[in-house]
Amino acid sequence: MTRDWDATTYDALPLPHLRWGRRTLDRLAPRGDERVLDAGCGTGRDTEGLLDLLPHGRVVAVDGSVRMLDRLRERLAGRLDRVEVVHADLTGPLPFEGEVDAVFSVAAFHWIEDHAALFASLAARMRPGARLVAECGGRGNIDAVNAAVADVLGTRSDTWEFAGVDDTRQRLKAAGFTDIDVTLRPDPAVFEPGAQLEAFLATVILGPYLDDMAEDEHAPFVTAVAARLAEPVADYVRLEIGAVRGPGS
Ligand SMILES: C[S@@+](CC[C@H](N)C(=O)[O-])C[C@H]1O[C@@H](n2cnc3c(N)ncnc32)[C@H](O)[C@@H]1O
Repeated sequence: MTRDWDATTYDALPLPHLRWGRRTLDRLAPRGDERVLDAGCGTGRDTEGLLDLLPHGRVVAVDGSVRMLDRLRERLAGRLDRVEVVHADLTGPLPFEGEVDAVFSVAAFHWIEDHAALFASLAARMRPGARLVAECGGRGNIDAVNAAVADVLGTRSDTWEFAGVDDTRQRLKAAGFTDIDVTLRPDPAVFEPGAQLEAFLATVILGPYLDDMAEDEHAPFVTAVAARLAEPVADYVRLEIGAVRGPGS
């Protein structure tokens, strides 16, 4: 299963994920009565945005982190009658009934190594003609932060799959998608130097490194990485994906 998250700190940060979410909701622009899968929904920020856009629809909120889903349930208390909350790994068979009319996803796919399995698993739950509208870290994402990590540790993580345009197009096609539109968009996020930058690095970017370290090594490591960045910037490059589930199997 996937790593767990500090959901409370995550929600308290000025996350660039907010604008990625808004952009992706704008691209989805649903009619209002669809059933939409929020793949890697996290704490439910965009699940809430989806519910606003779907007054007669429903959301299937899937995530592999129990803590993120607990926070989502708190956030959406009172609206859960239109949300199916599903704890599952997105690369496996998805344990909910029926098919969805669209899949939406923000900042989740790069946490998943096997994109072929991911796209196959999503396609299996989409009705023919359903749209996939997603974004995640893409090729070149946080290169400067990872270079700073390599400088501190002598190695860098291969946790993330920062896919490119051509490999993503091929994997989508192999999973039966059509009308494929994939682009890379450089999108740096600027933080206040010091505590805000370090909280962001620790909670969002450096988590996979911290998972392998003793607790007392966390703060010095995060400070050392932050000190090596030329600017208090996370050099994000977003992979934006649009596709339609084809008529095939
Ligand atoms: C950076 S968070 C993004 C959450 C939310 N979409 C947002 O924009 O705030 C990535 C989410 O993907 C989830 N995730 C990563 N790999 C997953 C997998 N294989 N299956 C299900 N969820 C996964 C994590 O648990 C986490 O909640």
